[in-house]
Amino acid sequence: MKQQLNIGLFGFGVVGNGLYEVLQKSQTAHAEIRKICVKNRTKRRQAPESLFCFEPSEILDDPEINLVVELIDDADAAYEIVKSALLKGKSVVSGNKKMLAVHLPELIDIQNKYGVGLLYDASACGSIPVIRNLEEYYDNDLLQSVTGILNGSSNYILSRMFSQNLDYREALFGAQELGFAESDPFYDVEGLDALYKLVIITVHAFGVYIAPERIFHSGISKISENDIGFAKEKGSKIKLVARVLKTGPGKISLSVLPMFVKPEKYIFNVEDEFNGVVIKGAFYDKQFMFGKGAGGFPTGSAVLSDITARGYNYRYEYKKMKQQPDLKLDNDHAVKIYLRFTDKKDLDIFGFESILEQHYAEGFNYVIGKISLEALFKARPEMSTKDIFLAEIS
Ligand code: HSE
Repeated sequence: MKQQLNIGLFGFGVVGNGLYEVLQKSQTAHAEIRKICVKNRTKRRQAPESLFCFEPSEILDDPEINLVVELIDDADAAYEIVKSALLKGKSVVSGNKKMLAVHLPELIDIQNKYGVGLLYDASACGSIPVIRNLEEYYDNDLLQSVTGILNGSSNYILSRMFSQNLDYREALFGAQELGFAESDPFYDVEGLDALYKLVIITVHAFGVYIAPERIFHSGISKISENDIGFAKEKGSKIKLVARVLKTGPGKISLSVLPMFVKPEKYIFNVEDEFNGVVIKGAFYDKQFMFGKGAGGFPTGSAVLSDITARGYNYRYEYKKMKQQPDLKLDNDHAVKIYLRFTDKKDLDIFGFESILEQHYAEGFNYVIGKISLEALFKARPEMSTKDIFLAEIS
């Protein structure tokens, strides 16, 4: 039986605004935004002034509000709001990837204890319903990997650099102007946003929570013309790819890495702010989900879908997690890496298992070799201070 939802919305940025407009057009949501809590008291907004409030308690303590929708930027503040709402018996829809990736185990416990629901399909891959599908349809142990482009901004930047020869700064500016990027785009371009989404996806794909700080990630901020030229020469594109895969009995490996992608791969044609997720299983081989991963309307419509689901009291059951799968993080997993560097001494920070190819020329040095995720992990702190770009060769 569908219930009427009275929404208290936190945040009115790109996604909050998108949701507001999408909700106006929905005939079936049975949901009304009663209050919108924002920080800035003076900013002009495209919604009636009477809706806005400035103290979280005006929503959290309002007994008529039965659903909190949290769409703010600040992960710490989001955590306080979401936790407080759940503890007060209000269900929540959230889009905050970082907050969820860091606090999911605690928030799952609270949901179970208080019988409330926390939905967050909008937090990973924007408009693609990847979480609910992994949770409901792929509810068995046949899944082998989930691989995808999970960050729209970095994909937009790479697309523009590859197809229009834009330089990195111009392309990043475009992603910001179009409202795809996080308010601090560091999270997009360094692979953190994709990492947080991967943590959330892994909970629903494999029923295990792996904290983000245990997972190797590397981004695209150091990509150069040489890297792009090298990829083009090989008939490839470079994409920022997040992946979780079973590497053996009881073992899974997770990573976020730029990757050389050949035309025969599904994600080759995923361009601009679109995301694409390839789900691989033991008996059905590969399936592909594709759609807009960023932007106010696509993400707003994913939030609306979570709101609608709450109208029917839908909750994630975390069925796979309840089965307590015996899966451990495998950072010994080795990957084939292209590593472009400036100074030959920089190679010493990497513990390559084997070098398969090397190239030294004026202004363009690279090696291709096999290296474990653990070795990459150890090299990370030093690597981040140097002009080094790495990408996986699949
Ligand atoms: N900054 C994010 C992206 C927004 O570019 O994918 C959607 O999560």
